[in-house]
Amino acid sequence: MITDWKKFTKQAQGELSSVKSSSDLEKWRIKYLGRKSALSLFFDSLSNLSLEEKKRLGTTANTTRKLLRSLFKEKEENLGSPSSLSFFDIARPGEKIRQGHLHPITLVSRQIIKSFESMGFAIIEGPEIETEYYNFDALNIPADHPARDMWDTLWLRGNQKEKLLLRTHTSPEQVHYMETHMPPFRVIAPGRCFRHEATDSSHEVQFHQIEGLMVGEEVSLVNFKAIIELVVKNIFQNNVLVRFRPSYFPFVSPGVEVDIKMKSGIKNRNSKTNSLSRDWMEIMGAGMVHPSLFTEVGYETGRWQGFAFGLGLERIAMIKYNIEDIRLFFNSDIRFLEQF
Ligand code: FA5
Repeated sequence: MITDWKKFTKQAQGELSSVKSSSDLEKWRIKYLGRKSALSLFFDSLSNLSLEEKKRLGTTANTTRKLLRSLFKEKEENLGSPSSLSFFDIARPGEKIRQGHLHPITLVSRQIIKSFESMGFAIIEGPEIETEYYNFDALNIPADHPARDMWDTLWLRGNQKEKLLLRTHTSPEQVHYMETHMPPFRVIAPGRCFRHEATDSSHEVQFHQIEGLMVGEEVSLVNFKAIIELVVKNIFQNNVLVRFRPSYFPFVSPGVEVDIKMKSGIKNRNSKTNSLSRDWMEIMGAGMVHPSLFTEVGYETGRWQGFAFGLGLERIAMIKYNIEDIRLFFNSDIRFLEQF
């Protein structure tokens, strides 16, 4: 029979605080709240008491029982005892963590950069917002030159002195770099370019180029050919033909364009040969740096020569990964991206 309720409660609380396991907690529950516990026996005995005593002691007993039950619940949650553990099935297979992966453009970009690095090229970067001077004038393309039409330009609001634009190619990096460095050097400048294009399956308004520039006293087109063939063959594991065609860019002389074609066509998922890999595809413009650029950046006349190129990354990725539409790279369709 409980006579000192305070002492009883204190004892129960003391014992509960030293409980460290679920089985000890169950023992405690049986002792203090079980059917044969002192508390339950007390409730059984209430019927023998007078109404007044029943009221008085019944209230105390009830308060004590409520308190012990809530202490028990709290301890049970803290311990993670069987009733809460029942939600945790240790035999259940774990949830698979979705792993992110690299975008196809990042993949080809890294591969190409690695190739150039292995041949001693340093990597540089330049701004996506350019001045008219670096994007055009310094490259021998003055405002009234018809070659400006080759680059459909997205103009930004600049001030009167300097018109700003989103760079249409990575070639401005040639000028930035030469302004602050003396040859000999070999560098590449990867980056995003923007053109006001009518998009189609091989033209986007934003795309990536890798600009290359190698200048020395004896650097020639022969070096260019050898280096580019090596890089391209490395990307396509030798399954590629490379073609150099004469072309025109105001900042090189002579100018060339480079096309590639797969030796054996790449099959798509329906086992049909990807049309992109069947035909020649232009992947870059290039040439020997025009002497006027050397003059523009203050180099000694006639001493230096070198080559420059601008390689389009999307076109390479399209052939390598059998992608028939360039617009897929930028529309963030998870079904497309998950394939890489
Ligand atoms: C140029 O941009 C020159 N700056 C290249 C250059 C550099 C010439 C150095 C000489 C010396 P072009 O406009 O042809 O050239 O672009 C080069 C490559 O970028 C193309 O071969 C193509 O692969 C890619 N490219 C150009 N426009 C787009 C476009 N709208 N969408 C996707 N790729 C493009």
